[in-house]
Amino acid sequence: MAGGFWLVFVVGAFGLILNHFLPLFFVRLGSVPKGSFGWPLLGETLGFLKPHTSNSLGAFLQDHCSRYGKVFKSHLFLSPTVVSLDEELNYFILQNEGKLFECSYPKPIHGILGKASMLVTVGDTHKKLRNVALSLVSITKSKPDFLTDIESIAICILHTWKDKQQVIFSEEARKFTFNVIIKQVLGLTPKDPQTSAILQDFLTFMRGLISLPLYIPGTPYARAVQARSRISSMVKAIIEERRRYAGNCRKRSDFLEILQGVDTLSDDEKVSFILDSLLGGYETTSLLMSLVVSFLSHSPSALQTLKAEHQSIRNMKQKDEYLNWEDYKKMEFTQNVINEALRYGNIVKFVHRRALKDVKFREHLIPSGWKVLPIFSAVHLDPSLHASALQFHPRRWESQDQMCKRFTPFGGGSRCCPGSELAKLEVSFFLHHLVQNFRWTTEDDDQPTAYPYVEFTRGLVLYLEPCS
Ligand code: HEM
Repeated sequence: MAGGFWLVFVVGAFGLILNHFLPLFFVRLGSVPKGSFGWPLLGETLGFLKPHTSNSLGAFLQDHCSRYGKVFKSHLFLSPTVVSLDEELNYFILQNEGKLFECSYPKPIHGILGKASMLVTVGDTHKKLRNVALSLVSITKSKPDFLTDIESIAICILHTWKDKQQVIFSEEARKFTFNVIIKQVLGLTPKDPQTSAILQDFLTFMRGLISLPLYIPGTPYARAVQARSRISSMVKAIIEERRRYAGNCRKRSDFLEILQGVDTLSDDEKVSFILDSLLGGYETTSLLMSLVVSFLSHSPSALQTLKAEHQSIRNMKQKDEYLNWEDYKKMEFTQNVINEALRYGNIVKFVHRRALKDVKFREHLIPSGWKVLPIFSAVHLDPSLHASALQFHPRRWESQDQMCKRFTPFGGGSRCCPGSELAKLEVSFFLHHLVQNFRWTTEDDDQPTAYPYVEFTRGLVLYLEPCS
């Protein structure tokens, strides 16, 4: 028994060492970018993941870039890796999804998201799910019901601030985006009993995504897998109920209702689709709200211009009249503020890819099977690509095209975020009511920090004053 254990141990250790050092020999065969592999097994992962403010490059990238240049090799997440801080290479990677590179999130994430999740599927299955997502967003985004839902949820949350002198904004923003997405996706309101059950399970599910992947009862990972299966049962029960009462209920316009009519998707794919929408639409959008609110608190002139824009839209409307799609189209400076918060705040620092074959880019060889990490924040904060890159300056977007290689907050190519428009719409409508009803200040040490998922050090405490 003990002999068997040692044999497994020795073979395992040998395998791991081989995994680490074999690529070093490989390197001699071609011009793989310069860099270092760091420690056996862990490589340089800990240095790479060291927290830093999200509007900075962080010590690891700063140091490696000045030592090896914008494209370098490393050993990250148990794999030899090419890291790219280069605008052109990042674009090339995103545009060649499925041909030269493929989305490759760490295996444990698959266990939680499920095999039908859009984030982990590739090829035709991915294409099928993605087309459904794009058509759902385009059907929904300008529908009056949807716009009114967003606005009433914003008004409702701001109403609860009436007698408060301070709020933890990241919590308020999460409440807002969760209520919007759960209404949008499943037609549920905060009063429905399933809403709080789904929220609880969903939070457990998200904690699992950033935990150690050990399937031992009681660990965050195992709890996340169980939470996913409970959410899945709840969604399946809602699907069943709607099927049973089809025709007897009032007409709904949520994602699930539209999905019911899509017969190319199985029930499991529909459930995964709902989870993907919750996952994609909740944390990222609430973080965008926090970034905007935080950066505006240090930028009085941008806040002034933003207020004037929303005041002039409000002046054209009746008291208490809801915003519509035409009003949204008038929010031009708001879009500049949002774009600048996306550039400067870097919600998604990088994405995971893998080379499907040996790829030659300029003088670099990227060997087949290696991990490839395009780092979006490095391009967003590059002073040779954005003037005064380390300043929050929304006006730059009056003359800069947002559809460019230098700006990829939503990724690009065939995996570009399908929810980008929804996120911007939600933030714009919330800001419309926020800037007209409150003034706020923040603490200097309450900074957005990349862990690499971004969080505010103190949750973004706002000190409030009502606007008279
Ligand atoms: C500020 C808000 C958001 C940011 C910064 C963001 C960012 C991103 C990025 C960078 C990707 C690409 C991932 C990759 O290439 O591996 C992505 C994909 C995705 N996002 Fe978003 N997102 C946001 C909002 C949303 C919303 C509101 C939804 C849904 C309602 C959503 C759903 C998705 C889905 C389903 C994918 C996978 C797409 C695919 O693989 O084809 N996102 N997002």
